[in-house]
Amino acid sequence: MADNQAKLTVDGAGFDLPVMQGTTGPDVVDIRKLYGQTGMFTFDPGYKSTASCESALTYIDGEEGVLLHRGYPIGQLAEQSSFMEVSYLLLNGELPTADELDKFTYTISRHTMLHEQLARFYQGFRRDAHPMAIMCGVVGALSAFYHDSTDIADPEHRRISSHRLIAKMPTIAAMAYKYSIGQPFMQPKNSLSYTGNFLQMTFGVPAEEYEVLPAVERAMDKIFILHADHEQNASTSTVRLAGSSGANPFACMAAGIACLWGPAHGGANEAALEMLREIGTPDRIPHYIERAKDKNDPFRLMGFGHRVYKNYDPRATVMQKTVREVFEALNVQDPVFETALRLEELALSDDYFIEKKLFPNVDFYSGVILSAIGFPTTMFTVLFALARTVGWVAQWNEMISDPAQVIGRPRQLYTGPTERDYVPVAQR
Ligand code: SDX
Repeated sequence: MADNQAKLTVDGAGFDLPVMQGTTGPDVVDIRKLYGQTGMFTFDPGYKSTASCESALTYIDGEEGVLLHRGYPIGQLAEQSSFMEVSYLLLNGELPTADELDKFTYTISRHTMLHEQLARFYQGFRRDAHPMAIMCGVVGALSAFYHDSTDIADPEHRRISSHRLIAKMPTIAAMAYKYSIGQPFMQPKNSLSYTGNFLQMTFGVPAEEYEVLPAVERAMDKIFILHADHEQNASTSTVRLAGSSGANPFACMAAGIACLWGPAHGGANEAALEMLREIGTPDRIPHYIERAKDKNDPFRLMGFGHRVYKNYDPRATVMQKTVREVFEALNVQDPVFETALRLEELALSDDYFIEKKLFPNVDFYSGVILSAIGFPTTMFTVLFALARTVGWVAQWNEMISDPAQVIGRPRQLYTGPTERDYVPVAQR
């Protein structure tokens, strides 16, 4: 931490505020004592200029389009690693040895089953319930089944809960899909990889042996890596805030799922593909670009823009390349990809998008791939939640294991009525 200071003057009085330095990225002004010193709050709706915590998990340089997990560039991890290996890295801080990875993968595979009583939860939903609604309910309900591991002060309880959440999300997600199409739930198969098992639970049927296509398994695993963690985004901040009250990890992850569902966040992948399908052919793109630029039109290019990236989202680069790999492997010809490529080309040559630094984000191409693999759009954000669970869990562990952590409780700029006396209804 640096020992340099920032100076603040309020009504002529000077205040020295410590400036803290991380290992890279912007320094921060430590305002923890500001209210006590000045009687004033800072004001930052949306937290555009606020660091909410210290973290060693993920670093983003939005201007340069850089994303590192524990220092490793996302492009290298996507091309050379696996989701299980990245999960170990996020949870433990270092890449595992082959033996460590085997043990971790074995442990996760032994927690993939769901309690039979929990499987009955699905029967309470309508068949056309949005799978994200089911995820919110079922993940939150996990806390009713694991009283043996909800003492968050116990590192062993945190470890078991973390493994259970990472392991059970694919099972819960696959069951949500099966329930929506009226097919029987498929049991996990420990002989398959984490991602291969998810694919067989989703697309397999009891009547025949499901064949996991290596190209699809690799693409799906890469998509999971690209969604694993992303600094203090809205849903991760939700998990941290819920966890700061001491809530159990299952309830915290359910809160994260609820936040991720929003179309401005994880719900954008579903909205982006629906937008591309609505645009249809490239000749209709200019009309939609004009709509996106029109301040009086609420329409936005879904999958475009980002709070942090003011350059290309490095995940979108990998995602676009993966589209080609999946299309080739599955011999898919979907015109929506050409529409997406043309939309990106036209938007990135338009002054509005150039000036506002709006580039494709992780959600722009992901739906094209997921649709080619066979997922309905309603499952897209579920897949985002499945992958992001390891990030949420790693961020939650980092916070809970910090002895200095306190309950999150922001203040406000009050603009309501000042004190006034109650008026009985007969006198109003
Ligand atoms: C994710 O935070 C994360 O890390 C999230 C995420 C993760 O991995 O966790 O990366 C995942 O959520 C990616 C983002 C997915 N959302 C979308 O694709 C929805 C479409 N994009 C936007 O709604 C928007 O870009 C946000 C919400 C992503 C970011 O919004 P900001 O940072 O609050 O920026 P803003 O809304 O203030 O926009 C700045 C300007 C505005 O114009 P002005 O008011 O300055 O005139 O850019 C405009 C916006 O109107 N703008 C867009 C636009 N996005 C922003 N105009 C048209 N189309 C868009 N997509």
